[in-house]
Amino acid sequence: MTLYCATTNPGKLREFRLAAGGSHAAIRIEPVPGLNVIPPPAETGRTFRENAVAKAIYYSRFAPGATFADDSGLVVDALGGAPGVDSAHYAGPGATDDDNNQLLLERLRGIEERAARFVSVIALAEDGRLIGAFEGVVEGWILEAPRGSNGFGYDPLFLYPPYGRTLAEVSPEEKLAVSHRGKALRALLEFVARLSSPSPGARNGG
Ligand code: IMP
Repeated sequence: MTLYCATTNPGKLREFRLAAGGSHAAIRIEPVPGLNVIPPPAETGRTFRENAVAKAIYYSRFAPGATFADDSGLVVDALGGAPGVDSAHYAGPGATDDDNNQLLLERLRGIEERAARFVSVIALAEDGRLIGAFEGVVEGWILEAPRGSNGFGYDPLFLYPPYGRTLAEVSPEEKLAVSHRGKALRALLEFVARLSSPSPGARNGG
């Protein structure tokens, strides 16, 4: 089956396809047709979940089947949860990953307590109706200087202590095995796989 994905972020799409290609090869992930010309909805939610649900419901009206959208970002304890839902535009509209990383380092200058987590919520909808929402979290620590060139966004500053490396220093497979998006996506794929293959008991009416 095909799941339609409402993201224009190439880093996210790569990660989604990598995760589905593993244990769920029967599920294909395609961008929502014509995604680039669909006016994006305003992301006005105050939580990742609100934004993911709103995007999934909105984009599912433009897709021929079940559609998922994710909202994700970095939550830093010492900054009261910032950048949070503003992660993509932390340094302002049109900010690049570098701009956002520089601002994060500035805001954390001189602060020793640098615990942080990435959060991803993936919502699934069809024909404008919400079907489910799945959350994944990965805990880490913000370094004082970037390390590594893989991944995207805040990965070069995000140390994942069990690896002793940032998420920009690990392979895409290593990142996905532990990341917020990997966890949320696996929960989504397991849910969809269960829905599309009813148990023998269910088929027998039991
Ligand atoms: P969204 O597209 O509104 O979900 O914004 C997500 C933003 O959060 C991205 O643009 C990145 O800045 C940040 N982000 C989310 N997931 C990751 C990740 O896996 N690595 C690094 N940054 C991330």
